[in-house]
Amino acid sequence: MTSSLATVCYIAATILFILSLGGLSNPETARRGNLFGMIGMTLAVVATVLGPRVTPAGYAWIVGALAVGGGVGLFAAKKVQMTQMPELVALMHSLVGLAACLVGFASYIDTSIEFTGAEKAIHEMEIYVGILIGAVTFSGSIVAFGKLSGRIGGKPLLLPGRHLMNLAGLLVVIWFAREFMNAPNIQAGMTPLIVMTVIALLFGVHMVMAIGGADMPVVVSMLNSYSGWAAAATGFMLSNDLLIVVGALVGSSGAILSYIMCKAMNRNFFSVIAGGFGTGGGAPAASGAGAQPAGEVSPINAQETAELLRDSKSVIIVPGYGMAVAQAQHTVYEITKLLRERGVNVRFGIHPVAGRMPGHMNVLLAEAKVPYDVVFEMDEINEDFPSTDVTMVIGANDIVNPAAQDDPTSPIAGMPVLEVWKARTSIVMKRSMASGYAGVDNPLFYKDNNRMLFGDAKKMLDEVLAALKG
Ligand code: TAP
Repeated sequence: MTSSLATVCYIAATILFILSLGGLSNPETARRGNLFGMIGMTLAVVATVLGPRVTPAGYAWIVGALAVGGGVGLFAAKKVQMTQMPELVALMHSLVGLAACLVGFASYIDTSIEFTGAEKAIHEMEIYVGILIGAVTFSGSIVAFGKLSGRIGGKPLLLPGRHLMNLAGLLVVIWFAREFMNAPNIQAGMTPLIVMTVIALLFGVHMVMAIGGADMPVVVSMLNSYSGWAAAATGFMLSNDLLIVVGALVGSSGAILSYIMCKAMNRNFFSVIAGGFGTGGGAPAASGAGAQPAGEVSPINAQETAELLRDSKSVIIVPGYGMAVAQAQHTVYEITKLLRERGVNVRFGIHPVAGRMPGHMNVLLAEAKVPYDVVFEMDEINEDFPSTDVTMVIGANDIVNPAAQDDPTSPIAGMPVLEVWKARTSIVMKRSMASGYAGVDNPLFYKDNNRMLFGDAKKMLDEVLAALKG
């Protein structure tokens, strides 16, 4: 393939990626967006492999790498549960960071292209910055993977003088950048490069360890953004324009997502990075650790729930992480369909950080074929709770916690929540009194107009559906 044809393919792939991102912003166009992304990526890979910069001698390596990478990807995609998706995404981000580091070291020791003067300085700066971003992304994503999968506790690790340590690390990195740029040969440049890599790896670990469980949504999207910048840095090192553009697209869309997540949690981006917010973590949520339950709750059974739903005119369903765990979305759809056929106005209220990854609930509801026009964002539906007969909270906890509004000492204080308790009756469906991801008790459970439907969400909803049909 000639270099001009490869450039045309790169431009086409860039347009497809932009269309893909545009499509992904709306559930109705998301499928088409994914398709554009897939076509764009195929075009990009084919144009790169057959392009002028790869000699036929390299084909065997590329085919081998594609087979191994594609095989691992296919296996992971088939095996991973929907609830493990955020962890998988964090692992994938770590690979982008690792790739940026490896490409950086390889470009530095590669003597096949001679750089001189300003070009040499720019190339070395690209390598230094690329490895820096790559190493932070790599180690930060590994720790995020550990936190999301519950292997590492969600409690923030707050070392004494941590800000000073970070500042000292930054100064050392800047100092070694100078040493690296002034190094007379590759051997001499290796020492500052390796020292900086180690500091960047430690910084990545320290940064994510210091972030509390409650801020994890921002971390997930922030590392997404970093992986984009790491890819862009790789593009600079390899002089590959497409990789630069795609990296910048991922980096900036991740940054926008981080901003949206911060807004959804009423947090300032810099305080998130400074860390220390939120007490609990993924693992304690499942085991029920965290705050102790305080007060009496009123249980309800499936039959009574069905009766309440049948007698309602308007119902709002609020799904959360537990719906994903129980894989209850299909039963939720069946119930929605049945109630709508009987004239009940059923709608969904989606919190921006419900579940464990951005858009988690939208993906599940789309999979179950819930019509998009009954699915509303938190801001669109929050005012409608007072005029609602029943709200059904399915495996959600932190996102419906009134303590976020009422208790300034709560670890989630200030986070906007779905005001489900303002409906005539709220029904919370979960297995126990265990706390959610942030590890805090939920006063909603003890309110007079709240009922608890204890049990696995799928099992309980199956019973509700049977009672509704009966
Ligand atoms: P959570 O607050 O984590 O609550 C989920 C609830 O589901 C738990 O209290 C659990 O209680 C229940 N549950 C678990 N398995 C269940 C099952 N099989 N059947 C029924 N219930 C089940 O979830 P949420 O309300 O969706 O809030 C999300 C939280 O995750 C927020 O704190 C958010 O900051 C955090 N987070 C979000 C993201 C993104 S990007 N969305 C990323 C990382 C962290 P039981 O154990 O008693 O059943």
